Amino acid sequence: MPEMKRTHYCGELRLADAGTSARLTGWVARRRDHGGVIFVDLRDRTGITQVVFDPEIDLDSHQLAHQIRNEFVLCVAGSVRERVEGDLLALTDRKHQADLDAGHLSEDLKSTFEDDRHSLSTDITVAVRETGSRWLITDNESSRTYAAKVVDDSLHIYQGTINPELATGEIELATDQLEILNRAETPPFPVEDDIDTDEEIRMTYRYVDLRRPKMQKMLSVRHKAVLAARKYMDEQGFLEIETPILMNSTPEGARDVLSPSRLNAGSFYALPQSPQQFKQILMMSGVDRYFQIPRCFRDEDTRADRQLEFTQLDLEMSFATVDEVLEVSEGLMKRMFEEAAGIPVPTPFPRISYHDSMARFGNDKPDTRFGMELSDLSDLVADCDFKVFTGALERKGQVKGLAVPGGAAFSRKEIEDLTDFVAIYKARGLAWIKVTEKGFESSIVKFFSEETLKAVAERMEAKPGDIMMFVADQPKVVADALSNLRLHLGRQLELIDESRFDFLWIVDYPLFDWNEDENRYEPFHHLFTAPADDSIPLLETDPGNAQSQHYDLVINGIEICSGSVRIHRWDIQQKVLELLNIGPEEVERRYGYFIKALQHGTPPHAGIAPGLDRILMLMTGEENIREVIAFPKTQKGLCLLTSAPSAVTDEQLEELSIKVDLEQE
Ligand code: AMO
Ligand code: AMP
Repeated sequence: MPEMKRTHYCGELRLADAGTSARLTGWVARRRDHGGVIFVDLRDRTGITQVVFDPEIDLDSHQLAHQIRNEFVLCVAGSVRERVEGDLLALTDRKHQADLDAGHLSEDLKSTFEDDRHSLSTDITVAVRETGSRWLITDNESSRTYAAKVVDDSLHIYQGTINPELATGEIELATDQLEILNRAETPPFPVEDDIDTDEEIRMTYRYVDLRRPKMQKMLSVRHKAVLAARKYMDEQGFLEIETPILMNSTPEGARDVLSPSRLNAGSFYALPQSPQQFKQILMMSGVDRYFQIPRCFRDEDTRADRQLEFTQLDLEMSFATVDEVLEVSEGLMKRMFEEAAGIPVPTPFPRISYHDSMARFGNDKPDTRFGMELSDLSDLVADCDFKVFTGALERKGQVKGLAVPGGAAFSRKEIEDLTDFVAIYKARGLAWIKVTEKGFESSIVKFFSEETLKAVAERMEAKPGDIMMFVADQPKVVADALSNLRLHLGRQLELIDESRFDFLWIVDYPLFDWNEDENRYEPFHHLFTAPADDSIPLLETDPGNAQSQHYDLVINGIEICSGSVRIHRWDIQQKVLELLNIGPEEVERRYGYFIKALQHGTPPHAGIAPGLDRILMLMTGEENIREVIAFPKTQKGLCLLTSAPSAVTDEQLEELSIKVDLEQE
């Protein structure tokens, strides 16, 4: 076995290590054969070191280095040295040395070595290596370097070989030992950050993909975020407790992922959509403060921010109010963002009610990094002559709109495209009025009095140069169309400040949603959410208007956490189940154990579950959840690396008493 105990990681060596010996292990990122000398960029998870094979240093390793190809696994040993200077470009007077010591490259000195091949920009840094004798000149624009050195009694300028973009760019390893630990097939794509490779190929060769610096960074940020969370939760007195993966269905609203039981033929476990019931049971068990970093399974269509299996930072607290849960969660976010990603997080976070969020943004996960808020104009246009508006109002609808800054310059085609865009959300049209210095411009202006137009523009805060755009329809259509239009235009017009992180609590949600099709209430979130204290009487009289003690945390328009104060009184839990039209038999079958537990001494309790993957997406600026999960699944729920899911043998099916009937599909 070769000696493989490395002394350093590839990204660690610095100029201060010059003169010492080092042993490195890693993958070949690049090999360059310069005739006499072979250069290899050796990569591991920390970075890259340039490794030199010089026949004058060691003939054997130089010989062997000819065989090296990309992604071969090597162990190399040798001495760390400052990168040697390149060609001598100029030989000049020592009088320049004071300037260089002061970190300045004078025009006079510049002119001695600047020629057609070496023209310097104005963005120059001079680093003093040794006062009075050695300097490093870097042209930050071209990333070229030059070495200045006093030799005998003159100043020599050499072409630099230093790579200022590499942390180890000032040194190289002069190798005297090479061990090829393993050879490798030509990689299916380059192991570097900016690749344009099909995602399916990346996922099939995930082990090659994960070697890319960006992916290694992601794994490290993810580790740091989880570590910061664990430390914080421990400091706050939370116990980490595991709950079962094989269990009964949790009512989170998605389809369950099922697993058949061999010992109980015909019965199935449901993998947890979340540990919701168990964390509540833990409060009933006297745990007081629980947390876990559980995997959750939901068989729903995957999207950019959804996976079939994902990770939560689940927590629950006894005797806690909404304020206490929000405070703990804010502390958790602060620690994770600051420790893992260096992103400062001011606390406390602002809060708005669900109602206000819907009114101002048309959804309950607003991106507040830009304006263009919605205005309700129903009252102002109630008496106008535009039938589209008055007709919608007569049908108990709404007229709402937003003012697009600079939108008066939109062409007909651009407006048509936006009309097509809102049609995706079932809006039957997109009315518009341009605001110009001369007045209001649109084919529909004639339907409104000047006074109404002014009042509308004032409410929408529309200025000359803007366009006002309106949707008239049922509230749900208006909200969907305008919230999506707002986001679409925010992106298209680059109104979003991407450097910002807007943390926002949405509070005071309704307890129930009315299901038109089935003519019944549904829980707005899940059926364990407690009503607000003053809404308890409404359970009897007007459940549709009852408010809950649910809260969501939104960051930059993405829902990150969801939680609530829970129902701890069994009579209220029963009342809610009744309102949801869940019959006594089903209650007994699905929730009997839970109702029983509620009757055995349940403390008031509340909790929340941040989605770890989504947090990572924000920290790393990724738009796709698959970029922050080591081994993600495709949109169709496939693991391309291992080809899961796959068929099983007939014997396995027989043991499980399962017959597969594909015809039924
Ligand atoms: P909820 O269902 O809202 O609440 O989930 C909490 C958070 O988990 C994340 N999340 C997901 N992330 C990736 N892929 C998915 N398919 C996915 N689904 C959810 C989101 C979300 O905000 N038991 C309750 C929490 C509670 O009440 O304490 C629950 O699971 O970031
Ligand atoms: P019409 O009278 O159908 O030609 O529509 C006149 C303008 O109103 C067009 O710009 C349509 O896009 C717009 N419009 C039609 N229906 C609606 C609606 N429900 N909400 C907003 N604008 C609409």
